[in-house]
Amino acid sequence: MATTVPAHGSTRVMRCLVTGASRGIGASIAASLAHHNHQVALTARGQADLQALADRLTVPTMVLPADATDPAAPSELIDAVVRQWGGLDVLVLNAGEGVSATIEETDDDLWARMLELNATAPFRFLRAAVPVMREQGFGRIVVVASVASRAGAPYILAYTAAKHAVLGMVRAAAAELATTGITVNAVCPAYVDTPMTQKSIESIVAKTGRAAADVAERLARMQPINRLITPEEVADAVTFLVHDRGGINGQGITIDGGRIQP
Ligand SMILES: NC(=O)c1ccc[n+]([C@@H]2O[C@H](COP(=O)([O-])OP(=O)(O)OC[C@H]3O[C@@H](n4cnc5c(N)ncnc54)[C@H](OP(=O)(O)O)[C@@H]3O)[C@@H](O)[C@H]2O)c1
Repeated sequence: MATTVPAHGSTRVMRCLVTGASRGIGASIAASLAHHNHQVALTARGQADLQALADRLTVPTMVLPADATDPAAPSELIDAVVRQWGGLDVLVLNAGEGVSATIEETDDDLWARMLELNATAPFRFLRAAVPVMREQGFGRIVVVASVASRAGAPYILAYTAAKHAVLGMVRAAAAELATTGITVNAVCPAYVDTPMTQKSIESIVAKTGRAAADVAERLARMQPINRLITPEEVADAVTFLVHDRGGINGQGITIDGGRIQP
């Protein structure tokens, strides 16, 4: 039986939507997709940062400020992209936040907040994008999960539960959509050099009184390569999954310098 394999994704312009695109990993992903000539719609809450990034990109962009946890936002954003560009080929679900707390400090609000932003919002985006991508017979969905999707660590109970949930969603969606031309994958980074990690350093300093340089050094050493992962390394992996012909599906690619080796 002859097997037909779709063209490599880098050979055509794709219409992309990236959440959490205003800084850190999301901004690097948007820049990487633009570098490959893809059109990029950028969303996060802060309009000014999104606009500043859009101004630097040399491809068609859309700036769509929204709170990802607004239940109406995912379908409104996807509708806006489809109205303007006629479809949606790539959905990168990157918006997220981690808050550290002991088990006893994890109240219902923190638990709900972590689940809402890191798992429920990505689910709503996925659910809204699937009919569009199904109709096209093509789609690439990539979730920015975490090493916290793969292993437990102290003081991030609610974040870990949410990141495990979102990787479960990726696997189930990939299985359900396998014959549609849509792939669903995740990347699972360890500590990345972004404002989110900077905030973690500040919070550890505030709680422990230790020097910021020592805390930063300790976080760098959490990776066997003795440094933080760069946002560009995560963006490269996302772009690789976007360009994949379709054989890679339901995977979570760990980007941690070699610590987790399942
Ligand atoms: N940094 C790490 O070490 C690390 C490691 C593993 C996984 N990750 C994951 O990687 C993703 C990006 O992290 P990052 O380090 O780049 O974080 P970051 O620097 O804090 O950036 C987070 C992005 O998400 C947006 N965002 C946050 N809450 C939002 C909301 N309610 N609605 C819409 N947008 C929202 C932020 O923009 P606004 O504030 O303007 O909305 C920003 O663009 C997250 O899912 C995180 O869990 C990070």
